[in-house]
Formats: sequence, C-alpha cells, structure tokens
Amino acid sequence: MGRRDRLISTSILRAIFRSTSPRNDERARPGLLARICAFFAFFSLGLARYRASLFKKLRNETWEIEEEEYTESFRSPSKSKRTDLVAIGDLGYSGSTFFTTPNSKYLIKSLPRHFEQTFFRDRLLDPYVEHMELNADSLLVRITDLLYCPTATLGAALGAAPSHHIVMENILYGKSSCSKDQQKRWETFDLKPNDYFYPERDVAGGRLAPESVKERLIDEFKDKVRVTIDQKEELIAQLSQDSKILQANNAVDYSLFMVRYPADLNSADNDKVLTPPGRGSAWRTGVVSRDGKWVYRAIILDFFWAKDALQAQTLTGLVKLFNALKLGKDHGPMSITTTSDEYRQRFLGMVEDMVEVPDSAGRPSGELRSPAPMPADLV
Ligand SMILES: *[C@@H]1O[C@H](CO)[C@@H](O)[C@H](O)[C@H]1NC(C)=O
Repeated sequence: MGRRDRLISTSILRAIFRSTSPRNDERARPGLLARICAFFAFFSLGLARYRASLFKKLRNETWEIEEEEYTESFRSPSKSKRTDLVAIGDLGYSGSTFFTTPNSKYLIKSLPRHFEQTFFRDRLLDPYVEHMELNADSLLVRITDLLYCPTATLGAALGAAPSHHIVMENILYGKSSCSKDQQKRWETFDLKPNDYFYPERDVAGGRLAPESVKERLIDEFKDKVRVTIDQKEELIAQLSQDSKILQANNAVDYSLFMVRYPADLNSADNDKVLTPPGRGSAWRTGVVSRDGKWVYRAIILDFFWAKDALQAQTLTGLVKLFNALKLGKDHGPMSITTTSDEYRQRFLGMVEDMVEVPDSAGRPSGELRSPAPMPADLV
C-alpha cells in the first residue's frame, strides 16, 4: 500500500473509532487552529461521520448489524499488527479509492466528484433512509456510514485526497475465506443496460472520452440466471420498487452488481461459504439456480449520478457534438445522459431478459411476460 492509501486509510479508521466514543458530537466545530492544521494536512483528512445517529439506527434497527461486530470489522485480527484497511485498487489521482475492512465484510469507496457527494448527501440520503426503513429486503446496497470532511482542506480542494467515503456491505463476503483455487471460481458482473452509447467504448477506441467516464465500463453476462418463477417475480418486484426511488430522484447509470459462485463450494468438505453480515435477504445470502450449479447474489450499486448533474449535462452536449460531426453512426443516449425513467425501464428490461424461468411446458424461457417497453431514444 502506498503512502497516499495509507494516509487515507488512517483518516477513515480515525473517523470510525473516534466516533464510537461517547464524547462524539457529530455537529461539533473544531477550533480555528485545528482547522488550519487540518487544512494543510495534505492526504490525511479530518474525516467525521456524517449524521452518525441516522446510520447507527439503520445498522441497528433495519439491518440488524451488531454495533460491536461492525466496529471490530475495522480492526486487524492480530493485535501485533497495526490496523490498516486493505486497498483494492485506486483509479488514478482523482479517481475512486477502494478499500475493504481487514475481515472483508465491508467496502469503503470514495466519492471523488463533487456532484456525487452533494447528490447523495443532500438529496438522495433522506429518501434512501426512508426507503430502507420500509423495505428491509431492498436490494439497494446497504450504506452503513458516510464519512465526510467537515473542514476545508488543501488536499480535498486540489483533489488529492477524496473528502467523502461511503462504507457499505460487501456482497463478495465469503470469497476471501475460500481456498485460492475456489476463489478463482467466483465471478462478478457489474451490469448496466448495454444498448446505450458508451463513448469510452464506441468512439475512436475510447481516446476521446473524459477520464471520469472511462472507469464506468460495464461487464457482459453471457449466460442466464436460472431460477423459479416466484424467485424471478420477487426479484423484479424488488428491483422495481428500489429503482423507483432512484428514478424519483433523477438518478441514472446505476448498475446491478451480481456475484456467482459454484454451488458445490457449499457442499465441499470445508465450511459453508460465509454470508454477508446483518439481516439476511434472499439475494444477499444467495439464491441457488434451478439446476443447482450456481449461487447468485445481487444488489444495486453506484446510484450517485444525477441526470441534472453538471457533468451529465456536459456529456449530453458531447453526444450531440458526436452526432453533429457524424462520428460513425448516429449515437443514442448515454447511460448518464438519458432520462431517469428511461434508464429505469432499460435497467428492468435488462434483468427481465437475463433471468430465465421454466415456461408452462417445462422448457426454459426468458420471456414469460412481454419485455419492458423501450421508449425512443431521446438525444
Ligand atoms: C440494537 O440496539 C439495542 C439497544 O442498544 C440492543 O439491545 C440490540 O441488541 C441492538 N441490535 C443489534 C442487532 O445489535
């Protein structure tokens, strides 16, 4: 782990452990000298928990995550070693940083861009919390903490160190306790409707795309998820409810993060595959495919892009420019320049097509119901 990651990791851990002490007051303002020192601390930010009691209530009452176990997740298992988060990739200087807790139960991801931070913190958070309280089985990723930087810092101002981090459940939990060979048999898919125009993929070999969209490449799932009719209907109904609040708040470009591992890992001589912490739900603990081959897990990730964000507007202009210059064929909307209700339709349509159930004659069919309507392209 490099110096930058280590300092960011230290800031995150400090925020988690500091605020577990009773003295913590989430609204307390640090003194002037502390603020000046904090400003010049380049990578190490004075992070604090944003609305700590709100997230604590979610963890405790809605998701039934034990507080002590949660805090212990951030500690190294061996007392002799200093605690560090585990860095799992850093996408460039101003890109996202990604960590897991030492026990890999939780992921910590930075929100590097200002519009993502303000969108989640000021707009989506309240509807998100309300939705989660009413839908304990929601497939929106469980965000267990939001860490932010209450004072201005030079590092954050220059974009050197991200000022917002979300802590969330890791639905890959269980993988790291499998043997090396078994770990290779786990697969992950970050899925978005792939009929959109992705300039990072579709134009000039991606050389014209802004750096900020390059990391948003999508995966393709070439197989089908084979489950029962009831399981499929429950999944679609849940995703439909979940994406409704995203649409209502104008979010686009979120993805279905799907994990699968061979079901025989559960029947192997060793222990069963561990499941993510907290109150279980079917698609978190894992749904076994009809043929008994795979265990599937799935959640909705990355819902921090608003259609009305400045960046999305700029990119809408970019798509229009591509079309005006006739760079190749006419381009449809991008996933981040489309409208939120159209994105939702395509997102649900993607899942509908991907999940296959037996038809009444016993043959598998992916299209029991008519596929979701696809409105005409809008750009
Ligand atoms: C939630 O908090 C209450 C009160 O502190 C506690 O008794 C209960 O055990 C907590 N629930 C979980 C799942 O930790």
